[in-house]
Amino acid sequence: MAAKVIAVANQKGGVGKTTVSMQLAGTLVRRGYRVLVVDADPQGTALRWAASAQDERPFPATVVGLAAAGNKLHREVVKLAEDYDYVIVDCPPAVESINSRSALLIADLALVPVIPSPPDLWASAGIARLIEEASTVNSDLRSLLVLNLCQVNRILLKDTLHVLQDFPLPLAKSQLGLREVYRQSSVYGVTVHEMGARAETAVREVNSLTDEILAILHPESSQADSVSDGGVNDAEAHD
Ligand SMILES: Nc1ncnc2c1ncn2[C@@H]1O[C@H](COP(=O)(O)OP(=O)(O)O)[C@@H](O)[C@H]1O
Ligand SMILES: [Mg+2]
Repeated sequence: MAAKVIAVANQKGGVGKTTVSMQLAGTLVRRGYRVLVVDADPQGTALRWAASAQDERPFPATVVGLAAAGNKLHREVVKLAEDYDYVIVDCPPAVESINSRSALLIADLALVPVIPSPPDLWASAGIARLIEEASTVNSDLRSLLVLNLCQVNRILLKDTLHVLQDFPLPLAKSQLGLREVYRQSSVYGVTVHEMGARAETAVREVNSLTDEILAILHPESSQADSVSDGGVNDAEAHD
């Protein structure tokens, strides 16, 4: 299979699976890669995102809906993967979802967005078990936890870091802040790169996450040397 497959998964809804999928997809296209987004969620949020783009400026990556593929999703993805460098599977919520299970069977990376609060992390424990289960069959599966919707709130962060220590998945250095521009970019069917000066911090966050993911998927290449520090969750105002 030509493409690297990234499954963006978490059984919890509203944690940013579609947001991370689409921002990552658009960013990889900007870097010259051929990228396919597989919308595996019957809600079709990724498809709707792409459909929101203006005709003169289509969403940069191809988006297809495969929510109905069920436990054959991996088979369909393998067929499509020939023509792409990266396939990003935007998984549905619900841990028992056969789509997520199926995607994890052939994924190179399970990317798990989480909201940095203890209850949200507890609610995300099921996906860690699902990834572990998939790893017994797919021994190359890597995983990465990404904090999304981060707010500058140090007390909460301290709590969260405590819970994170017990979370059995590696944590990305890059984080995505709670920024209106992420939501707005979905309305316009674009990534934050097309959102002008107000998206500067968001663009930095997304680029940093993309660097980090490329370094995991291609440890042999020099990408690993260019990973930026990420972790943009400083005292800047939210935009
Ligand atoms: N970092 C962020 N900042 C602001 N809004 C966000 C961010 N991430 C996600 N959202 C918004 O939160 C909602 C849920 O995000 P979404 O990506 O659809 O989650 P999921 O796919 O996990 O259900 C959407 O309205 C989205 O625009
Ligand atoms: Mg979604």
